[in-house]
Amino acid sequence: MVSQCSIDDWRNQMNQEILREAFFHTDMNVEIHSASDNSQQQIAMIESFIKRRVDLIIVAPNEAEPLRPVIEKAFDAGIPIILVDRKINSNKYTAFIGGDNVEVGKAAGLYIAELLNGKGNIIEIEGLDGSSSSQERHNGFHEVIDKYKNIKVVANFEADWLKDKAKQIMDTISISPDDVDLVFAYNDRMAIGAKEAAQTRYPQSKLAQIPYIGVDALRNDSIGIGRIEDGMLRASFLYQTGGAKAIDIADCILNNKPYNRNNIFQTSIVDKSNVHLMTIQTKHIDEQNNKIEFLNNKLNDFFRDYEAQRTILIAFVIITILTCSLLWVSIKAYRNSTRMNNQLAQQKERLEQQRDQLEAERDKLIELQATSATEPESNTMVNEENNMFMDRLKKVIDENMSNSDLSVEIIGAEMGLSRVQLYRRTKAACGLSPNETLRTQRLNKAYKLLHETQKTISEVAYEVGFSSPSYFAKCYKDYFGKNPTESLRN
Ligand code: FRU
Repeated sequence: MVSQCSIDDWRNQMNQEILREAFFHTDMNVEIHSASDNSQQQIAMIESFIKRRVDLIIVAPNEAEPLRPVIEKAFDAGIPIILVDRKINSNKYTAFIGGDNVEVGKAAGLYIAELLNGKGNIIEIEGLDGSSSSQERHNGFHEVIDKYKNIKVVANFEADWLKDKAKQIMDTISISPDDVDLVFAYNDRMAIGAKEAAQTRYPQSKLAQIPYIGVDALRNDSIGIGRIEDGMLRASFLYQTGGAKAIDIADCILNNKPYNRNNIFQTSIVDKSNVHLMTIQTKHIDEQNNKIEFLNNKLNDFFRDYEAQRTILIAFVIITILTCSLLWVSIKAYRNSTRMNNQLAQQKERLEQQRDQLEAERDKLIELQATSATEPESNTMVNEENNMFMDRLKKVIDENMSNSDLSVEIIGAEMGLSRVQLYRRTKAACGLSPNETLRTQRLNKAYKLLHETQKTISEVAYEVGFSSPSYFAKCYKDYFGKNPTESLRN
């Protein structure tokens, strides 16, 4: 976790370095948060890091004292703490990375004293009072400058590291331009803000005479060394951001590798004499960084694509497995259903056969009864009557033929005759039992349908009152001496 105190160009450069370096540590997951120059916000942020039990905190404390208790709390909770750029009033931290701000102040003091030839009036613009970097720059600067009796700090104010605040205060300050020989701000942003204010108030001739000096010397055109090249600032003191170093140390701490607890960057002056060289080198570094970032992004894209393809592949495999299982279940279900259908068809065939056998048995019984009867009705029947009877019988059968349950009882009931009466009269009229007549008529109709229509064997079987096509085929063969397939019209 990274907790930055502010959002500005210097922080952005550091954050970029952090992310770029973190890319080389694939086991590291970095989150960067900013407290927007607000100590309370930063305290709450670190409290939340403690709750989340993060593995390590890199923190630039907005102010040294207000942030002390919460950072100590995190440290006591076993979370390694890397302080960057600014410090706290405590020893409870794991490592520190940053510039030597006392050294920065001293270097500025010496440079300014020389520039002024030991004599002149200075406006001093400090950073946020509670921040260690401002306090240390102040100490270093005054340690040197106070030795020069003829150098006076005619105005001194805090602009909290902010350009706009420096500009605003400079706008309202009541010092005549003639009483100012140099402006020193603790960072370049405030120095530029102060000069912008002066540009609207000071005469052009005077403006050119007052050097504005800052700190940071960022690799940046609008707020860094570009402003030394274009003459807005006279000089600046390099204050390295150290983002990459912070990640290196974090890696050492997390992986139990040796590291230095205090990692101090040296400062150096950047002014007219070397700014051009710095710019060329900076451009080169920027180009390299851009290339690294380009490669990082490409790799990120690649990993994203790879992840997406992996997900698609997994989904594809799952879908294939599901489809195969579904297919297998359906094949099984289909096989079961055909097996059951076959069993059912066989059962139907058996039942139909049994029914016919039963009917035949009953016919035999009736025949016995009929022959033992005293006065057979058939004796009194004349031929014409027989024909009429047969016509009626055939009509009843024809009308009910498709009903596979059509029985001798139903036919008898339709014709108003008992089973025995029906049997006697049918036998007398055509020599066949009613059952045989029914069967014969069914098969003859089937013969006709097979020969004269396009209907299938099953359709014909059902139409003439068989409930099992296979049993129909058997009866057909018995009766006509050939299979129904041979009778198909095609
Ligand atoms: C960035 C900054 C720098 C300055 C440093 C001091 O947030 O204001 O300009 O050098 O912090 O801590």
